[in-house]
Amino acid sequence: MKVQVPSSYALRLILPGVVGLVTTEYRGRMDVTTVSWMAPVGREPPMVGLAIHPSTLCHDLIKRSGEFVVNVPTLDVLNQVMTCGQISGNDLDKFARTGLVLAEPKVVRAPLIEQCVAHLECALVNAFQPGDHTIFVGEVAYAWAEEGAFDETWTLEERDLKPLHHLGGKAFAVLEERLEAK
Ligand SMILES: Cc1cc2nc3c(=O)[nH]c(=O)nc-3n(C[C@H](O)[C@H](O)[C@H](O)COP(=O)(O)O)c2cc1C
Repeated sequence: MKVQVPSSYALRLILPGVVGLVTTEYRGRMDVTTVSWMAPVGREPPMVGLAIHPSTLCHDLIKRSGEFVVNVPTLDVLNQVMTCGQISGNDLDKFARTGLVLAEPKVVRAPLIEQCVAHLECALVNAFQPGDHTIFVGEVAYAWAEEGAFDETWTLEERDLKPLHHLGGKAFAVLEERLEAK
């Protein structure tokens, strides 16, 4: 028997994707924002779509700078992931608050986060607003992953190197088993 899922929870049925810590920078102002509504939207060139609420500083800095970085966190920084999703950079310097460490990007100006296991440096190529969030589409200009964590796919070999998935609210998960189809 299947039962109706309230519309307020419907989108959780297609989670969990990898959660991101999205970093942004414009004229020296930096921010880091937790984003779970992310999807691949192009293969050649590779593109990623983010659904970002217009009230956020992340939204403002992506619009102004035309770029962003998707950093992929692990269990290590679970509490920082929640903090960066509950507080706005308009109210507080989240880097100072969380102890997230900046690392040098390759092609964009927005910083990488050292504690994250992978990074996608993206240049903004499109933005549109189908509902209450803006879809920012970024072309991946440079991608990084920790050796051992990713080898054509996520290896899922070490718990500490697995990406985090957001189930909704304060619930997160890591993947347990890697299966190969014939
Ligand atoms: C786990 C988690 C996932 C989130 N995913 C999104 C998202 O996909 N899009 C979004 O606009 N906000 C999302 N948020 C909320 C923002 O992270 C939150 O509004 C944040 O305070 C905005 O910070 P900023 O103003 O510094 O950009 C999420 C929050 C959490 C805790």
